Amino acid sequence: MAGVYGPHPFGYNRAMKSLQNLRIVLGITGGIAAYKSPDLVRRLMERGASVRVVMTTSATAFVGPLTLQAVSGQPVATNVLAMADGNAMGHIELARWADLVLVAPASADFLARLRMGRADDLLAAVCLTTTAPIALAPAMNQQMWQAPATVENCVVLRERGIHMIGPAAGAQACGEVGPGRMEEPLAIVEQVAEMFANRALAGRKVLITAGPTREPIDPVRYITNRSSGRMGYALADAARDAGAAVTLISGPVTLTPPDQVELISVETAAQMHEAVMSKVVGQDIFIGCAAVADYTPAAPAARKMKKSEVDLALTLQPTADILAAVAGSGNGLFTVGFAAETDNLALNARAKLQRKALDMIAANLVGGPDRGFDSADNELHVFWADGDRVLPLASKSRLARELVALIAERYQAARSANVGD
Ligand code: C5P
Repeated sequence: MAGVYGPHPFGYNRAMKSLQNLRIVLGITGGIAAYKSPDLVRRLMERGASVRVVMTTSATAFVGPLTLQAVSGQPVATNVLAMADGNAMGHIELARWADLVLVAPASADFLARLRMGRADDLLAAVCLTTTAPIALAPAMNQQMWQAPATVENCVVLRERGIHMIGPAAGAQACGEVGPGRMEEPLAIVEQVAEMFANRALAGRKVLITAGPTREPIDPVRYITNRSSGRMGYALADAARDAGAAVTLISGPVTLTPPDQVELISVETAAQMHEAVMSKVVGQDIFIGCAAVADYTPAAPAARKMKKSEVDLALTLQPTADILAAVAGSGNGLFTVGFAAETDNLALNARAKLQRKALDMIAANLVGGPDRGFDSADNELHVFWADGDRVLPLASKSRLARELVALIAERYQAARSANVGD
C-alpha cells in the first residue's frame, strides 16, 4: 500500500536509517502525549514503514481515530469486537503481520497490564499474541513513573526482552518537572531504526543446512565430499545476529556449534532430508548450504566388506533433493540455494534457480586454491528472478553477514509484493 505519505520520492537519505518495508503496529494508550501520535505515524511512514494503528478506548479521548486513519491510510482498530466489521485485522492477524509492535505513548496502566499478560483489549491481546519484538515509549506523570509498582513492572518487561524507549525528563503536562515525558517522535523513530539496523531478520525463523553428508558403503567406509561446513555455520551466526531464530541441520563437521542456535546433527543425505522436512513448518526462510551427496550406495553392506583381487563396482542411487523438496513443499518458505560450479557460473546458477523453483541462489566458482569448499575465504555471485549481485572475495563470516543482509532485503521485497503493500 502506498499510504498517504508513501515512500520518499528520491529514495531514502542514506544518513537517515531506513525502515523500508518494516510493518509496525503502533499502539496508542491513554495519555496526553497521544497528541503526538499522528506525527509519529507520519515520521515512521516517511522512512518507509507500513503502520497500522491500534488504540485503547482511553486513547480515543486524547486523539481522534479519524486523524490516525487519515495519516496512516489504514483503518484504525480500537477494540476486539470492532474486528467483526471485516475491514480491520483481528488481533491474531495484526500480531502475525507485525515486524514490530510499538506502543507510544505507553501509560502506567498499560505497562501493568502488559506485565500481567492481560488480553482484555485489542492492543494487550496483540502484544500477548505476537512473536515480533515489542517496544514501549512510556509516558506518565513523574510520580507514577517512579512508583515502585511501575519500576518493578519495567524491570520485568525488560527482562522479557521488551525494548524501552525513554521516557525523557522535563516539564510535564500536569505542571510537574521530572522523568515521564514521552520521547519526541523523531527520537522514537531513530531508536526503532537502531533496533532494526542490524536486526533485519528480527522475529523470523531460519532453517539452514550445512556441511557434507556421509553415505555409508559398509559400517566403516563412506562416500563424502570436501565441504567444511564453515559457510553454513557462519550463516547461522549471521542470521542469529540479525535477530532470527535459527535451526541448523548439520552434517559431520569439526566446527564448534554456534551459540543460541538449535543444532541438529545428522550423517546421511536421507537423515538430513528427514530432519529438514520435520522442521520446515513455521519457518520463514530456508538456506540450503549443505553439500548434500547426490548419490548414495544402493545397498550398504551390513558388515565390513573384505578386500579381494577383483574389481569392485558399487551401485549408487540418487538421493532426494532437499532444497527442491523445501521449495516445492507448499509451506511458502523463501528458499535460498547454493551452487558450486567449475564453469559457466551464471548460466548454471540461473538454470538451477529455475529448475528447483528457488527464490535466490548463491553461486561460487570452485576449484581455485583460495576460495570455495575447504577454504576460509569465498566469493559469491547471487542471483534471483530479476536481479543479481556479486559479493566480492571476503572471509566466510563477512560474506555470510552480507548474504544474510541481501536475503533479508529480498525476503522483505518478496513479502511486500505478496501482500500488496
Ligand atoms: O544441484 P546441486 O546439487 O548443484 O545444487 C546445490 C544446492 O542444492 C545446494 O543448495 C544444496 O544444499 C542443495 N541440495 C540439496 N539436496 C541434494 C542436493 C543438493 O538440498 N540432494
